[in-house]
Amino acid sequence: MKKPSAAITAVHSVVPQKILSNQDLEKMVDTSDEWIVSRTGIKERRIVDNGQTLSDMGSEIVIQICKKRGISPLEVDMVIVGTVTADHRFPSTSNIICDKSGATNAWGFDLSAACSGFIYTLVTGQQFIETEKYKKIIVIGGDVMSSIVSYKDRNTCIIFGDGAGGVLLEPNLEGLGVIDSILKADGSGRDLLIQKYGGSAYPITKENVEHPDAYVYQEGRSVFKFAVTNMADVSAEIMERNNLNGDQVDWLIPHQANLRIIDATANRMGLSKEKVMINIEKYGNTTSGTIPLCIWEWESKLKKGDNIILAAFGGGFTWGSVYLKWAY
Ligand code: UT7
Repeated sequence: MKKPSAAITAVHSVVPQKILSNQDLEKMVDTSDEWIVSRTGIKERRIVDNGQTLSDMGSEIVIQICKKRGISPLEVDMVIVGTVTADHRFPSTSNIICDKSGATNAWGFDLSAACSGFIYTLVTGQQFIETEKYKKIIVIGGDVMSSIVSYKDRNTCIIFGDGAGGVLLEPNLEGLGVIDSILKADGSGRDLLIQKYGGSAYPITKENVEHPDAYVYQEGRSVFKFAVTNMADVSAEIMERNNLNGDQVDWLIPHQANLRIIDATANRMGLSKEKVMINIEKYGNTTSGTIPLCIWEWESKLKKGDNIILAAFGGGFTWGSVYLKWAY
């Protein structure tokens, strides 16, 4: 009997209501709208308010996905959450989302892969579907970056935003869904993009709580060089090994870290601008959230059978690409 592939059958995203614009940031740090737009493409980002948490966004995603698909949360087998800003060190945000959304028959876990969080979770979910033991898996990518960014550091606070998105994965017998993936990691780049304090290596103490290392640190220029090369390389590689040329790819869904990195990846793949999903101007870099936020916003334009390439690069370093065929 034919083995099922893992297909996306529903998508939903949640972003906080509150907008933090470049003009707002001009009042907080020494920066300008002109600098931020020309260097990154970002005009505004969303920031949580009134105690909104990742699990609040994630549980809404589970509820809305189930509604859309006409199923009960009780039918969900697993919830996997890609994030570096879980509600707590433990228990996992997956556990909390399952409780808040009523997905109480599901099990799951959080997965830490920074900006590659969504593609790592997607490929992880795919493996469980392909075992044929699990039929409905929700994979979520989301981050509350405002909880770990210093709004005194202009190198980082202008880039990041909060938001989350998720997709339902189900078995597909038409050859649609995730076809191929390349996932990579190189821990030697860890110091270039890191929240150094707050883990077990350097627990937060009253002496270090105000230190810059208690927040996200990024050596932007070095990370840019790795990101621009690796995201383009891995996207070209997945096209090559699946015999795809630029005309055959319908959509590139890139991680939204920097417009210049996205453009370089699209150029390398031979794709015209209309085929590239870009919403960085509205949401900034939501880390694990960027790719599902794009899928959600472009859902109505996607057609069954569309060839889609996802590509991401992030802290760790982690990076990779996924080739999937849209299933509805
Ligand atoms: O998402 C996961 C992976 N992350 C990425 O892919 C991010 C990769 N890196 C980048 O996107 C870019 O490096 C940044 C957007 C972070 C920075 O852009 P850049 O063109 O690499 O700028 P830079 O860090 O080289 O800084 C250029 C200048 C510096 O001034 P000097 O030394 O030339 O006088 C900075 O001090 O811009 C200054 N600068 C700023 N000026 C105004 C740095 N941040 C700001 C700011 N506003 N917010």
